[in-house]
Amino acid sequence: MATWSFSTSLRARLVVFVGLLVVALAAPLLVLLPAKMDGLSQRWADRRLIGIARLQAARAWIALDTDDQVEAEALLRNLGSAHGVLWAALLRPDGSPLARWNDPPGDLVPFHPGEERVEHQGGAIVVRVPVRGRTEQNGTLALAFDPAELRARPRETLLWMTTGAGLALLIGIAAAYLIGTIVARPLRQATDVAERIASGDFTASNDLQTSRRDEAGALARAFESMLARLYEQQLVLARKNAQLGEQLAELRRTQEQLVVADRRVSVGRLAAGVAHEVNNPLAYVRANLEFIASSLTPLVQPRAAGDEPGGREDSLERVKQALAEACQGADRIRQIVHGLKSFSRDDDGRRERLHVTTPLEAAIAMAAGEIRQRARLVRLFGETPPVDASEVRLAQVFLNLLINAADALPEGASDRHTVTASTRTGTDGSAVVEVQDTGSGIAPENREKLFQAFFTTKPAGVGTGLGLSISQGIVRALGGRIEVESEVGRGSTFRVILPPAPETAVPAEKPAAPPARGCGTTSLLVVDDEALVGKAFERALGSEFRVVTATSASSALARLATDRFQHVLCDLAMPDMSGPMFHAELKRRWPAIADRVIFMTGGAFTPAIQSFAATWTGALLQKPVDMDHLRRLIAPEA
Ligand SMILES: Nc1ncnc2c1ncn2[C@@H]1O[C@H](COP(=O)(O)OP(=O)(O)OP(=O)(O)O)[C@@H](O)[C@H]1O
Ligand SMILES: [Mg+2]
Repeated sequence: MATWSFSTSLRARLVVFVGLLVVALAAPLLVLLPAKMDGLSQRWADRRLIGIARLQAARAWIALDTDDQVEAEALLRNLGSAHGVLWAALLRPDGSPLARWNDPPGDLVPFHPGEERVEHQGGAIVVRVPVRGRTEQNGTLALAFDPAELRARPRETLLWMTTGAGLALLIGIAAAYLIGTIVARPLRQATDVAERIASGDFTASNDLQTSRRDEAGALARAFESMLARLYEQQLVLARKNAQLGEQLAELRRTQEQLVVADRRVSVGRLAAGVAHEVNNPLAYVRANLEFIASSLTPLVQPRAAGDEPGGREDSLERVKQALAEACQGADRIRQIVHGLKSFSRDDDGRRERLHVTTPLEAAIAMAAGEIRQRARLVRLFGETPPVDASEVRLAQVFLNLLINAADALPEGASDRHTVTASTRTGTDGSAVVEVQDTGSGIAPENREKLFQAFFTTKPAGVGTGLGLSISQGIVRALGGRIEVESEVGRGSTFRVILPPAPETAVPAEKPAAPPARGCGTTSLLVVDDEALVGKAFERALGSEFRVVTATSASSALARLATDRFQHVLCDLAMPDMSGPMFHAELKRRWPAIADRVIFMTGGAFTPAIQSFAATWTGALLQKPVDMDHLRRLIAPEA
C-alpha cells in the first residue's frame, strides 16, 4: 500500500509538473500569438491587397487612357469574380468614375497621384491605387475586399497551433508518466526491500539490483552496504541486549539475595535474644514437667493410711495446671522456632492470602527479647482485611520496624517507654500496621534520607542502613506504602499500608471421603519414621478419632491395602520412602485418598522435598503440629 502511494505520488508529481510546464509555456503563446498574428496578418493582407490592386491597375491604364468605359467595365467585372472583391471602381484623374462594378458607394474621392491607401470602410477593406496612364494625369483604381476571407487564414493557423499545444501537452504528460515509472521502479523496489527487512527478513537484500550501471544501481549498492551495516549493528545490539538481560537477571538475583541477607543479618543479630526467648518458656516447661513427675510419684503409689482425704484431687488439679502451663510454654517455643525458620528460609516472595497479624506476631516473637530491655511491648490488634503477600517478607518488614524502634530507645528504662504494634483497617479498606515508639525521634534533615540504601545513623556494625530501603521495596512490590511520622524527643510512628487481597472465589467442595471401614468414627493414618511422634498423635487424638500409626511409607501402604482411612497424616522427610514418593504411589493406587493427605514437616528439606512443598496445594502443617488445627482439618463436617 505504502509502495503504491509512494510511486504514484512520484509519478503523479512528475505528470503534474510537466503538464504545468507545457501549459505555462503554451499559454502565453496561445494568448499573445493571436493578437500578434492579427497585426502581422493585417500588414500581410494590406500588402497582398495592394499587390492585387497594383496588378489590376497595370491592366487598367489603357482603358483609362482611351477613356473606354466598356473596356473598363469588362476589366472590373473580371476582377470582381476573383480575389473576393466586393465592389470595384475606376476613376478618371478628375475623380469622376469611368467604370463601376457592384455598386460602390458614391463618395469615392480620388487620390493624389502616386498615393496608395488601404482603409476599412463600412465592413469592407477598401484599397486605392493610382492608375498611371500615358498622360501625366493618374486615375485611381478602388477595390473593396471582404475581410472575412482574409481572417480565415490566421484562424486556421491558430487552430493548428492550439492542436499542436494540446498534443505537446499530451506527449509531455505521457513522457512524464513514463519517466516517473522508470524512476519510481528502483525506488519502489528499494522500499519493498526496506519493508521486508523492517519485518525481519534480511534475505530481502538479495533482490536489490546492484548490477545495474545507472543511478538506480548506485542507489541499490548504497542501500546494500547500508543494510550490511544495519545487520552488523543489529547483531551488536542483540548481543548487548542479551548481556543486558543477563545483567538484569543478575541484578534481580542480587536484590533477592540482599533481601534474604538482610533477613539473615537480623536473625544473626537477634540470635542471642531469641535464645533467651526460647530459654524462658523452656525453663518453665521443664520446671512444670519436673513438678508433674514428682507430683505423680505419690499419686501412682497405693494410698497410705494417713493420707488426707481430698489431697489426691488437689494434687491432680495442680498437675493439670502445670500441664497447661507447659503447653503454653511449648506453644511459645513453637512460635519462636517458626519465626526463626521463616526468617532463615530462602523464599521467592511467593504470595498467599493472609492476615497481617501472622507475620507481625512472628516478628514480635523474634524481636521481643530485644525490645524487653528497653520498653514495654503493647499489642493493639484491631480487625484487618486479608492481604495478598509473602508472610516471610512481611515479617521481615515488621521486624525491621520493631528493631528500629528498639534502637531508638535507651537501654534500662523499659518502665518509661513503650513500643506499640497495632493493626486496623484503613478508611479506604486497606490493612494498616503501625509500629510506634516513644524513642529519640528522627531529625528533620534525616527524614528525606530514611529510605535511601545505606543511610544509617547507627555505629558501624550495628546498622547497615538497608532495613528501611529493603522494607520499602517489599511493601511497594505488594502495592502498598510506608508512611512516617516523627517528633524529635517524643518518638516515631512507621505505618505500613497494604491493599486488601482481592475477593476470592468460594473454595470448591472437597471430594467426598471414601466410606470408612469398620466403626463410624473418622479414621486417621499417621505416617512418621519417629515412633514417638505417632504415639503422641495417638494419645492426643485417640479418644476422638480412630488413629493408626505407621513408622514407614511402605508399612503405611501395606496397611492401606487392607484398611480404609479418611485421612493420612504423613511426614515429608522419611528415610526409606519420602513423603512425595509415598504420595505418588498413593495417587497411582488410591487417588481418592491421595487428595486427602495432610503433610507435616520439621523443616529439614532436601531440594526434591522443597520443590514438592512449593507446588503442594493441600494442607502442610509445621511440627510441632497445632492439634486444634489438625482437629479442624480432619473433623467430619457437621
Ligand atoms: N523508629 C525510629 N526512630 C528513630 N530513627 C529511626 C527509626 N527508624 C529508622 N530510623 C533512622 O533511619 C535510619 C535508617 O534505618 P534503616 O532501618 O534503613 O537502617 P538501620 O536501622 O540504620 O540499619 P539496618 O536496618 O540495615 O540494620 C536509622 O539509622 C535511623 O537513623
Ligand atoms: Mg533498621
